[in-house]
Amino acid sequence: MQNSHPCKHLAFIMDGNGRWAKSKNHTRLFGYVKGTKKAQWIVKVCSDLKIPYLSLFVLSTENFLFRTQSEILSLQKILQKAFLKNSNLLMKKDIKLNFLGDLSVFSSSLQKLCKDLCEKTKKNSGLNLILALNYGGRQEVLQAFKTLGQKIKNKSFDFQNINEKNISSFFPSSEFPEPDLIIRTGGRFRLSNFYLWSASYSELYFTKTLWPDFGKKDLNLAFKHFKNVKRQYGKVL
Ligand code: IPE
Ligand code: MG
Repeated sequence: MQNSHPCKHLAFIMDGNGRWAKSKNHTRLFGYVKGTKKAQWIVKVCSDLKIPYLSLFVLSTENFLFRTQSEILSLQKILQKAFLKNSNLLMKKDIKLNFLGDLSVFSSSLQKLCKDLCEKTKKNSGLNLILALNYGGRQEVLQAFKTLGQKIKNKSFDFQNINEKNISSFFPSSEFPEPDLIIRTGGRFRLSNFYLWSASYSELYFTKTLWPDFGKKDLNLAFKHFKNVKRQYGKVL
């Protein structure tokens, strides 16, 4: 991507949808509808800014396990509707869609839609949009361990050769560069099992703004922070 943004991989923990809805006497679901609209907005903004990679943490493994079944079902419907609505926009904006996480828990129609959209957009060369759905950083570590264990067991990998680089390659997220900046909305100061391995040197930016209220001003503040921070990677600069 030519003349891309200094932040090559921007990631969002889009928290605060439920609280936003509650503060306005609406159902949590309405918060998710608003949050999904905001997600569509940030995708367009990042595509226009020529940011090469955008990750959105849509649903964590724990959200999937511990939210009510009706909330999860409604969320699936909201997502499905948003995917259908935006399918042409992804092509128009040259956006490549990618998923992280275990999608097998979702309805077969949603799974098929995700697969079809990935297929449809796979040759697009603009923004890489990564949606983390039923995703957990620990589950990714577990998956990497299992792949490695299996390879050692069937002797296609020598235990002596384990190093950081080849461990990284067993992570599904290693397909993408490590996130440069992770923005969490909603006033909580934690990663909540997002990108545990690849976030080692990500810059973290937290804002009290609830995700449905997140706007250009908040984004510019986050970019200002990113621009001014010295990324040391352990060195003395
Ligand atoms: C985050 O918003 C989005 C999802 C987990 C789907 P929340 O649902 O966690 O919103 P709050 O934190 O309860 O306000
Ligand atoms: Mg929350």
